Amino acid sequence: LNIIRVTSDEQFNEVGASIIASLLQTNPRANLGLATGSTPVGVYNKLVELYKEGSVSFAQAHSYNLDEYIGLPSDHPESYRRFMNDKLFNHVDINLENTHVPSGSKEHPEQAAKEYNQLLDAAGQIDLQILGLGHNGHIGFNEPATELHAATHVVELEEDTRQANARFFDHIDQVPTHAVTMGMGSILKSKQIVLLAKGESKAEILARALMGPLTTQCPASMLQTHPNVVVIVDQAAGELLK
Ligand code: F6R
Repeated sequence: LNIIRVTSDEQFNEVGASIIASLLQTNPRANLGLATGSTPVGVYNKLVELYKEGSVSFAQAHSYNLDEYIGLPSDHPESYRRFMNDKLFNHVDINLENTHVPSGSKEHPEQAAKEYNQLLDAAGQIDLQILGLGHNGHIGFNEPATELHAATHVVELEEDTRQANARFFDHIDQVPTHAVTMGMGSILKSKQIVLLAKGESKAEILARALMGPLTTQCPASMLQTHPNVVVIVDQAAGELLK
């Protein structure tokens, strides 16, 4: 594990964006694995800046997002498809047809998961997977459980996860109860993984994930088995790693 400690938000975003930008400079056709949530927003902003100043192009890149809520229309302000379009895709030169987010189709969620998994298989390997960390140790929406799944699947969100995400909705009742998520196998198959963790509220779970035992009760602990993980942490999130 390569832990990069940063001392400001600015530095956090710069380091995250520069890892993605340097990959695209050497491999313009890279498969990017992308995350939503609050943590990567500044990194995406920084990437948009780098694109605008001509330092990076997404023209030939392909992207695969980790997850999507089930039951929100894709243009719903809180759908992850909409999030990605708003925060990144609409501001850079990526071909929208090359951007992939699982479908949150209410009618056929299992089918949507299966199709997304076939798409990932066809893509071969993700070159760089960006991950955030849930307070319960989830990555993507692989929630703590007695069993984890390798492939893309439908998952029931934990109460804890719905509460954490309720900040984006008017009321907790509006937070979807289910999601489609890439499985642990697809995530761990990535060539390189960049885990982003910011803020005091992530300190304890980050320490458990990186230094605790491997357990399905903390899905992020499986990252300890991956040969190429970079962790970007601010001071508050890294407090218990010393
Ligand atoms: C988002 C995702 C989630 C988040 C995690 C942390 O696509 O897969 O695992 O990365 O819930 O979210 P934030 O960054 O909002 O704390």
